[in-house]
Amino acid sequence: HIVYVPIDATARSVGADDVAAAIAREAAARGEPVQIVRNGTRGLCWLEPLVEVATPAGRVAYGPVDVADVAALFAADFLRGGAHPLAHGRTDDITWLESQERLTFARVGITDPLSLADYREHGGLRGLRAALSAKTGSDIVEEVVRSGLRGRGGAAFPAGIKWRTVAGAPGPQKYVCCNADEGDSGTFSDRMLMEGDPYVLLEGMTIAGLAVGADQGYIYLRSEYPDAERTLLAAIEAARAAGWLGRDVLGSGRAFDIELRRGAGAYICGEETAMLESLEGKRGMVRPKPPLPAISGLFGKPTVINNVITLASVPIILDRGGQYYADYGMGRSRGTLPFQLAGNIKRGGLVEKAFGLTLRQLVYDFGGGTASGRPVRAVQVGGPLGPYLPESKFDVPLDYEAFAAAGGMIGHGGLVVFDDTVDMALMARYAMEFCAIESCGKCTPCRIGSTRGVEVIDRIRKNERRGPNLALLRDLCDTMTHGSLCAMGGLTPAPVLSALEHFPEDFQR
Ligand code: NAI
Ligand code: SF4
Repeated sequence: HIVYVPIDATARSVGADDVAAAIAREAAARGEPVQIVRNGTRGLCWLEPLVEVATPAGRVAYGPVDVADVAALFAADFLRGGAHPLAHGRTDDITWLESQERLTFARVGITDPLSLADYREHGGLRGLRAALSAKTGSDIVEEVVRSGLRGRGGAAFPAGIKWRTVAGAPGPQKYVCCNADEGDSGTFSDRMLMEGDPYVLLEGMTIAGLAVGADQGYIYLRSEYPDAERTLLAAIEAARAAGWLGRDVLGSGRAFDIELRRGAGAYICGEETAMLESLEGKRGMVRPKPPLPAISGLFGKPTVINNVITLASVPIILDRGGQYYADYGMGRSRGTLPFQLAGNIKRGGLVEKAFGLTLRQLVYDFGGGTASGRPVRAVQVGGPLGPYLPESKFDVPLDYEAFAAAGGMIGHGGLVVFDDTVDMALMARYAMEFCAIESCGKCTPCRIGSTRGVEVIDRIRKNERRGPNLALLRDLCDTMTHGSLCAMGGLTPAPVLSALEHFPEDFQR
């Protein structure tokens, strides 16, 4: 019998390792032969540890499984898909999963993350082979342009256009850097992908290298992801041993290798130029742009910098063609986005869907409303620098342009849900405080403005000179928005101003 117990950090944090050990013990005691596969997570986080068993009808899911449930599961013959209160039927039929469009996450939760055989059996390396058979790097670039893929880190710049700039930049040495410093609150898609299907990221980076003429890639991984680090290091070793990373990629005579670099816990090192400084061994401070990293990036060389999900979406584009990917989505937002549901939500997890669905669908249909059972009051989309949105915005389609026009920011696709007990003035204060802690200190509006912002909000909350202090706060936000060097200081006013606009009553005590 094959039993799947996720090895993803989410599942491990709620006891998956102990559950796997308990299943092995119970099986041995009962003389039932089992093979336990540690897969990635399916993204149904509220059901973790979600244990699956392979049956002739497909995989059957049980969850959340506790060590104390294991004996009863065996007694209910779960190895053959037996009925039990924790059973959810065939995994593929679970509505939450069935109604998704998993392109980038197609293998996550299904395969053993480190099995190359599994990877190949489930379509792995087909994109890389297609890239190797392209006549020129520019053919690969144009396929990515055709797909409409935009940067999934948050800024949504067209990936193919960025690659075109790097490909066209002069110089023999170029680099591909993967930004895996996933720092936004409520986001975890990069981590889930790296832990659940690391090879797809390595494959995407290799394709990027072939496209722009780079022979070296770096993954800049946040230090808070030790599980992802272990998985990636093992995957890089295995890919080298299998001959598709290194001096001779799949016997093509082309070279591409990848190294992993670890951050040290600074949010700003997810900003691309601060990340480059950090990769070069310096303190993570933001560099002015221009020059763009595409022209002068790592060690001054033309550099592709893309987020994990952007690069991991490239293999399927090369395999199925840019048009296949572009057929998903709406407007200028093509393809799919892995949305991440977090905060006060009943069913938190990962939902990969084509652009165009709404917050209401995500929060209620997928998420089931709040975990507390109280009404939803606000949703913050796009990380700690994203605006807080009230229910009146829940029906705007999630498309970069339409959502921005309605005052939102899709960013990296993270949603944090709040119920009606939230104090939005406190959340506004939190945004300023976060900026004060994480500012790299290079420019005045952000370094000093954020500290003054906390003080002004404190005065407003104490009802001191409300009118003048509210005017001062708006003035400060204006200066930060227009005078900051990077998005850290530039976007911090967004959550503050949205709290003032949509929840003014919280600023009046
Ligand atoms: P940006 O708009 O300045 O740049 C986007 C990307 O396009 C950069 O890589 C830039 O170098 C590139 N680019 C721009 N013009 C180009 C051209 N003509 N040719 C080639 N490349 C070009 O945005 P930025 O400051 O890089 O990112 C801000 C975003 O980051 C925010 O909107 C936010 O959503 C997101 N963010 C994400 C976080 C996460 O954890 N994923 C954390 C914090 C912010
Ligand atoms: Fe540094 Fe803040 Fe200025 Fe960005 S806005 S460069 S984080 S001080």
